[in-house]
Amino acid sequence: MSLQGVHILVTAGPTHEPIDPVRVLANRSSGRQGFAIAKAAAQAGATVTLVAGPVSLETPQGVDRVDVETARQMSEAVTAALPAEAAILVAAVADWRVELSATKLKKSAGPPKLKFLPNPDILAELAQSPCRPRLLVGFAAETSDVVENAIAKQIGKGADWIVANDVSGPKETNVMGGERNRVHLVTGDGVEHWPEMSKQEVARRLVERIAREVR
Ligand code: CTP
Repeated sequence: MSLQGVHILVTAGPTHEPIDPVRVLANRSSGRQGFAIAKAAAQAGATVTLVAGPVSLETPQGVDRVDVETARQMSEAVTAALPAEAAILVAAVADWRVELSATKLKKSAGPPKLKFLPNPDILAELAQSPCRPRLLVGFAAETSDVVENAIAKQIGKGADWIVANDVSGPKETNVMGGERNRVHLVTGDGVEHWPEMSKQEVARRLVERIAREVR
């Protein structure tokens, strides 16, 4: 199904929250799933804005990419990209930033006492925004009670759908950073358990579902 004339907003990758001029707080998100979704949406004819955290991935053809580092920058870039018919927020946004030290923390000063400050919840804020996309899709990275936690996020954040994935397990075989994914799609109609497949295939199927919903 064609997405010609439809604007789709995608966030992908981790955020990096600076600690001092040389150190950051990061996570293991590779950006692959979000980039695959942006690519599949562009291939389906959509106008795609991809707001990407720090990742080393090529921009998919036909996708308008905005690079950011921090959660606050990602939030601003998302707002600037609106309006959009659908938003798929795949990014692993840091829930916390650290009170920034203007100078490098020195080892000689001993283990630093970092002060954590809350970051904006981009998905929850978008759900409340007057420019809320018609279809708002979040991702849920869980290590236990995957579906239960995803349903709680759907309700708590005001998303229409949540794509839940299990990110437990050792680094070598982890979904975060890996090529494959096994997701559970939580919609208003229930939960679909998709078999394990490549991130490209997850993206293709999800974009097909999105096209049916927004057209
Ligand atoms: N998300 C967001 N802004 C944040 C945190 C998360 O937009 N500050 C979005 C993610 O892009 C994803 C969804 O919310 O679509 C769920 O992210 P996840 O990290 O699984 O959930 P958290 O809210 O961080 O909850 P927790 O870490 O406690 O599981």
